[in-house]
Amino acid sequence: MTARILEGKEFSARIKDEAREAVEQLRADGVIPGLTVIIVGENPASQVYVRNKHKTCEELGIRSEVVALPEDATKDQLLETIDRLNADQNVHGILVQLPLPTAIKAHEQEILERIDPLKDVDGFHPFNVGKLVTGSPTLVPCTPAGCIKMLDLAGIEIDGKRAVIIGRSNIVGKPMLHLLMARHATVTVCHSHTKPLGDVTREADILVAAMGKPKFVTAEMVKPGAVIVDVGINRIAPKKLVGDVDFESVKEIAGAITPVPGGVGLLTVAMLMQNVVRAARLQLGR
Ligand code: GUN
Repeated sequence: MTARILEGKEFSARIKDEAREAVEQLRADGVIPGLTVIIVGENPASQVYVRNKHKTCEELGIRSEVVALPEDATKDQLLETIDRLNADQNVHGILVQLPLPTAIKAHEQEILERIDPLKDVDGFHPFNVGKLVTGSPTLVPCTPAGCIKMLDLAGIEIDGKRAVIIGRSNIVGKPMLHLLMARHATVTVCHSHTKPLGDVTREADILVAAMGKPKFVTAEMVKPGAVIVDVGINRIAPKKLVGDVDFESVKEIAGAITPVPGGVGLLTVAMLMQNVVRAARLQLGR
């Protein structure tokens, strides 16, 4: 029997509907929620993501602005831009698209920490990371939050389950650990030094692949019936995207699986819209 395919489109439509309603409510109260995305340089993947974010904002009635800085922008230019947006009452959400160009990559943390935590719709500021770890989340990173929301909407139980995450990034792996733990899963985080990896992944009722290696998770690494959440987006040819999971073989053994493209990527943008609404409410004190 092949796995249930968890289509991102269906779930993202539901999340966006929720956000749209919330935007309408804010607008009725005279507040137009606004997002500003800062992109530095010309990374083609980032340009696609930023365009998607802008388009989705427009679809939902969120004011959207993109600030494009040149590849050779300095750290100070970026910090000044953030300061200006922090002070702008019409901007409720600020997002610095990652990765940053090599020349300023080393300053990534300083740059992310400059964003007002109440406008930090990525949830990357240490204030928001701390809130998540201590169990009083405010703005939560969009991709892991989208994965949890999808499991909920799909009726997949988390409480009491064994969850295994492959990848320990600040964007996905680490926040995912805290979100799953808060929902009473027993969670293991694996990474490139985990040996033997298959022994751990085969324990998973819920397996989250987020390490950025194309088709790395194969059927032998998966427990029959497991729920597979594939967060990877790897371009292996000009027009060919694949996930971190070998979809064709794993779908024959898994209970449910997210495809790439068309899986959790769509949820990330939808959750960002919810975070913009949440940020606007936080700033208005409601
Ligand atoms: N680049 C890839 N994923 C993300 C994300 O979630 N936020 C930002 N800011 N940049 C990214």
